[in-house]
Amino acid sequence: MPSAGITNVADLNVEPGTLPEKMTAWVIREERFGEPTDAFQMEEIEVPEPGPLEVVVRVMAAGVNYNNVWAALGKPVSVFRYHPDEDHHIGGSDASGVVWKVGPGVTRWTPGDEVLIHCNQASYEDPEVHGLDPMAAPSQRIWGYETSWGSFAQFTKVQAQQLIPKPRSLTWEEAASYGLVYFTAYRMLIDQCELQAGHRVLIWGAAGGLGVFATQLCAATGAECVGVVSSDAKGELVMKLGAKGYINRGDFAGMMRKGGETPDEEKARFGESRRFGKAVKEILGDAPDIVFEHVGKATFPTSVFVVKPFGKVVICAGTTGFDLDFDVRYLWMRQKQIIGSHFANAYECYKANELIEQGLIRPVLWRTMGFDGVGEAHQLMRDNKHLGKIAILVGAEKEGLGRTEEGPGAIMAEVGA
Ligand SMILES: NC(=O)c1ccc[n+]([C@@H]2O[C@H](COP(=O)([O-])OP(=O)(O)OC[C@H]3O[C@@H](n4cnc5c(N)ncnc54)[C@H](OP(=O)(O)O)[C@@H]3O)[C@@H](O)[C@H]2O)c1
Repeated sequence: MPSAGITNVADLNVEPGTLPEKMTAWVIREERFGEPTDAFQMEEIEVPEPGPLEVVVRVMAAGVNYNNVWAALGKPVSVFRYHPDEDHHIGGSDASGVVWKVGPGVTRWTPGDEVLIHCNQASYEDPEVHGLDPMAAPSQRIWGYETSWGSFAQFTKVQAQQLIPKPRSLTWEEAASYGLVYFTAYRMLIDQCELQAGHRVLIWGAAGGLGVFATQLCAATGAECVGVVSSDAKGELVMKLGAKGYINRGDFAGMMRKGGETPDEEKARFGESRRFGKAVKEILGDAPDIVFEHVGKATFPTSVFVVKPFGKVVICAGTTGFDLDFDVRYLWMRQKQIIGSHFANAYECYKANELIEQGLIRPVLWRTMGFDGVGEAHQLMRDNKHLGKIAILVGAEKEGLGRTEEGPGAIMAEVGA
């Protein structure tokens, strides 16, 4: 439940088209990098003006992502390396909101439009944007992580190409909750791995942000998946989302790669990976064609080992460590592929969002918190106490607002901390 805001951020005394001078925002500064509850502090800060092809959006609700856990910690790199010209970091890479002021050259959007925001930015002038993929552009940045002016504030500044019409059947908090993880999972599975009916898929962290959407994408496509989780309660959620089965990773703790193992320890670890592979096969009927990776160091050797010959391990993160090592013989002899993937381009975001509009994929909300909950929400995520997604109310006065059409809405993930 949203708690009483420290500042009433839902109150505004300006109409669309006009910006106030100041706004309330959650700000990370270099000198207080550390645990999210310390690093995030509420401050009053100037409201940015939109530049050419930019839009300032009034944030109605924001979504919480792991990237601003990294931003708070200052690890593995300081976010100020990405945006050295600003001494503040306003994080937040997901939002729903109302277009408030448009900059020169914007023709597609007008003040008052209801939108959600995808988090990829790239310069219009980079040739990659116009022929290869905006994700390949040298100017490519994740808004609200590699840039400031993210969504944990009353107003956010974005590029016009980041806006997507808000699905009418969703509340503000539902619409704010899914973009970053869902669009990432969509590119990983649909475009990078060409997911098809009949494919078998192994999904690490299947009850987490990326995982709940990877699981639903498999179910919607007619692929079969097994989700790895750390509790039976999370397993139940994964089954509800359409998985064929789940595996509690606590039953295979010995397969996790720590690094620096002795040859005997490595042999024992490999034995556990083999046992895990058998459990995966038992559920799916065969080895997975695709392994959905983001855990990194701890699980990667197992991922490369268990994926089927000619199969694909698609990876977008290394939460447990970036220095991956694995026995490469299993890669070349069995002609497997490792595919790196990062967020999505605007077209993929639009296509993925159509599945939300059609109710084929649904947001998975664990908790909606008031604006004062930003630090706490990131701490819950850092401590792995959450499931699915956490949303933050900003301009929306309470939960349940913003829906203008009937629809299935979000799946509520009801277990956890
Ligand atoms: N490159 C991109 O575009 C992109 C996009 C989105 C996210 N990411 C990154 O991807 C990672 C995951 O993001 P998320 O939003 O899904 O986070 P999340 O909601 O925290 O989910 C991650 C899941 O991973 C599992 N996990 C955590 N530690 C593990 C371990 N040691 N071994 C096995 N599983 C473990 C947890 O599930 P169980 O405890 O139930 O196993 C957790 O639910 C983060 O590092 C994030 O920054 C990258």
